[in-house]
Amino acid sequence: MIVFFIFLPVIIPLAVFILFVRWIRQRPCFLHDPLPGGQRPFVIGFFHPYCNAGGGGERVLWTAIRAIQNKHSHVHCVVYSGDTEANENVIMQRVKERFNITIPRPVYFVWLHRRGFVEAKPYPILTLLGQSLGSMLLGFEALVKFVPDLYIDTMGYAFTIPIFKYIGGCKVGCYVHYPTISTDMLERVSQRTSAHNNASFISKSPVLSSVKLIYYKIFAYMYGTAGKCSDFVMVNSTWTQGHILSLWGAECTRIVYPPCDTQEFSQSFLAVDSAKEMHSIISVSQFRPEKDHSLQVDAFAQFLTGRHGNDRHAYELVLLGSCRNDGDAERVAELKKLAAKRGISDKVRFELNVSFNELKKELHSATVGLHTMWNEHFGIGVVEMQAAGLVVLAHNSGGPKLDIVTQYEGGPTGFLASDIDTYAAQLEEIFRMTPERRLAVRVNARESVERFSEEKFESNFLEITSPFVL
Ligand SMILES: *[C@@H]1O[C@H](CO)[C@@H](O)[C@H](O)[C@H]1NC(C)=O
Ligand SMILES: *[C@@H]1O[C@H](CO)[C@@H](O)[C@H](O)[C@H]1NC(C)=O
Ligand SMILES: *[C@@H]1O[C@H](CO)[C@@H](O)[C@H](O)[C@H]1NC(C)=O
Ligand SMILES: *[C@@H]1O[C@H](CO)[C@@H](O)[C@H](O)[C@H]1NC(C)=O
Repeated sequence: MIVFFIFLPVIIPLAVFILFVRWIRQRPCFLHDPLPGGQRPFVIGFFHPYCNAGGGGERVLWTAIRAIQNKHSHVHCVVYSGDTEANENVIMQRVKERFNITIPRPVYFVWLHRRGFVEAKPYPILTLLGQSLGSMLLGFEALVKFVPDLYIDTMGYAFTIPIFKYIGGCKVGCYVHYPTISTDMLERVSQRTSAHNNASFISKSPVLSSVKLIYYKIFAYMYGTAGKCSDFVMVNSTWTQGHILSLWGAECTRIVYPPCDTQEFSQSFLAVDSAKEMHSIISVSQFRPEKDHSLQVDAFAQFLTGRHGNDRHAYELVLLGSCRNDGDAERVAELKKLAAKRGISDKVRFELNVSFNELKKELHSATVGLHTMWNEHFGIGVVEMQAAGLVVLAHNSGGPKLDIVTQYEGGPTGFLASDIDTYAAQLEEIFRMTPERRLAVRVNARESVERFSEEKFESNFLEITSPFVL
């Protein structure tokens, strides 16, 4: 009883607010006007404050909206956007140009003016908590401006989900690209390494480290509680799914791979490579340290040891990538030195800053696609090499291991390795195979990338959302 009176000052305003929101919901709005057939429209709200950013997250948003509009003629789509400096026409134009996506019917925008709340700048300390509370305020702004029938958060603001569910009375779901906090982060703080958020005075002090760990744990718990109220959860990869399952424990979590443009690479005709005089082993990536190009050079050098004459001339390593700054240029110089040291300078070809057409040409003439980055979350480059019909040899970790270079239709789609010896051994294995067997792997890999296509994304997205669209 006493508890009840203590909470009265909280309960009454909350109840009033809920009633206020329910009233907003009932209020006449043109989006609720009956359709020509007399049917009541169903409104889906997408929470995507940065909808004009033009990145992978936005491709997911606009592809999803197009799919929904094509499937359900009685659905209106609303986007909560904080891009107040743009307008509808500018945004839709950009979608068309950037993604080549044409949205069949009008999309309605609800403009949010408090986007500053979710940026990191206002919160020098307790950034995660600050941004999350900020996202709740932004969520309230969105809610009082418009209450949809189904709410989908496509930018990972999990704290807005309970607001729309319990105050707005909506069905709710989300698409998660990346967990706000990950179990890796918790681990790193507890082991006191200063990688993330590198205030070394914290990782040096046991007391501050435990305080931070407690803060992270409480935060992770709240994050999980908020996320768990979703009626459906979609994640973009196995890596994200692992983290979301352990933090949210939401049974309804399903992987929906984001749409990749594999068409561009999969047009060429695949044939046996027996007539090739030169087998190129190609690597396509920026010259960043985590890509681990030196492993490629070392493994290739080891693969070449003991090969002489024609057997040696038949192979080359092609390192293709953009070289954008001094750091990149320095790494390229280091790699050239390494190749010289291993005595294979004449066998390593650098292709820097090449055009997209040249890239495609190189991919289509190469035999093996090489990837060496450890623990990459996904690895779109590996998917593109598979689409191009290469035999891929990728790092045995992260996305390549979990999502991409997996068995498909009972056959392999490529090979995995983890250090110089295993990379060299796998290269050996690949070239020991008959051209016909290599072709079988290449064909299977190209077919397997259909899992990452736009069509597959659309059908998965619709299958999961349709039960909630009335
Ligand atoms: C844009 O998409 C249409 C079909 O949706 C396709 O025919 C066209 O080739 C695409 N254009 C580009 C530049 O990719
Ligand atoms: C999932 O999203 C994260 C963050 O944007 C990104 O790094 C990762 O590559 C995405 N995964 C896929 C399968 O695209
Ligand atoms: C983290 O530490 C590195 C080197 O100690 C420094 O260069 C970098 O600016 C720091 N980053 C932040 C966000 O403090
Ligand atoms: C590659 O392009 C960058 C800028 O786009 C330029 O600074 C750099 O010098 C170029 N490198 C080479 C090797 O062409």
